[in-house]
Amino acid sequence: MGFPVTRMRRLRRSETLRSMVRETQIAREDLILPLFVVEGSGVREPISSMPGVHRFSVDQVVIEAERVRDLGVPAIILFGIPDTKDARGSGADEADGIVQRASRAIVDAVPDLVVITDVCLCEYTDHGHCGTLDGHEIQNDASLERLAATAVSHARAGASIIAPSDMMDGRVGAIRAALDAEGFDQVAIMSYAAKYASAFYGPFREAAESTPEFGDRRGYQMDPPNRREAMREMRLDLEEGADMLMVKPAMAYLDILADARREFEVPLAAYQVSGEYSMIKAAGERGWIDADRAMEEAIVSIKRAGADMILTYAAADIAEKL
Ligand code: PBG
Repeated sequence: MGFPVTRMRRLRRSETLRSMVRETQIAREDLILPLFVVEGSGVREPISSMPGVHRFSVDQVVIEAERVRDLGVPAIILFGIPDTKDARGSGADEADGIVQRASRAIVDAVPDLVVITDVCLCEYTDHGHCGTLDGHEIQNDASLERLAATAVSHARAGASIIAPSDMMDGRVGAIRAALDAEGFDQVAIMSYAAKYASAFYGPFREAAESTPEFGDRRGYQMDPPNRREAMREMRLDLEEGADMLMVKPAMAYLDILADARREFEVPLAAYQVSGEYSMIKAAGERGWIDADRAMEEAIVSIKRAGADMILTYAAADIAEKL
């Protein structure tokens, strides 16, 4: 039955009516806040490329974690920025490394907050790549050992979810085996399964000081035009033991997220990355868009496309407004 019997505007007439027929709602429980941790104490350093985002020392990140938990956000994901870097990324799996200390302190102070740790070598290597090198070649299998050791050190520090973001082949299987061998069979893996080689990571690389010294990440991260390949990546990670899958970035890859929602039963996460976040903030600062509304719209679009969990630098701001 068409117009004039059918009138779509009938159910849009008031906010109350609209709220009754709204198909997607953002809940605090959907949100995960990324946090950057640096050495020192008393540090709360704004990141110029990411308005409203800071680098915290361990003592300050604990305060931020408490605030986030009080706002009803259930989880954070930690990124470490060490003072010293070397070729093999030695800092990544140190028992007393930056992420390990932050994780221990947060688990101690805010036990009901879920601590997720990003497992990658790029913040710890002097060359800035996500694996170890043989000349200018990023080694796959040799990197797996380093990644697995890093995951185990995070589990020892109390992390309950490990999130590998390096895109080496076989890392989920290697990490699962290492965790199980060390008695961490209860620690979950959230795999950055469909992670694309994206220009939208620009602000993060400044924040984490992880820009590759030579070349780029196209030899291991996915080629943006590919859609079917993402399903293969995700299926492989599930076979290797991933508990949850992630699509990253989010907004330019909502088709991938919707495909994954149809294809898989596991919980799905999507990462609204630094560039997605900072573009909205920057345009808001210029008065070109209403940044709060645009941010909410972006987040709801990610949920509508099929994400159960959304990693976003706006998690605390959004939770505050709900
Ligand atoms: C790699 C990693 C990156 C991001 C999360 N984990 C950067 C990269 O692959 O270059 C990007 C996050 C963002 O842009 O917000 N450890």
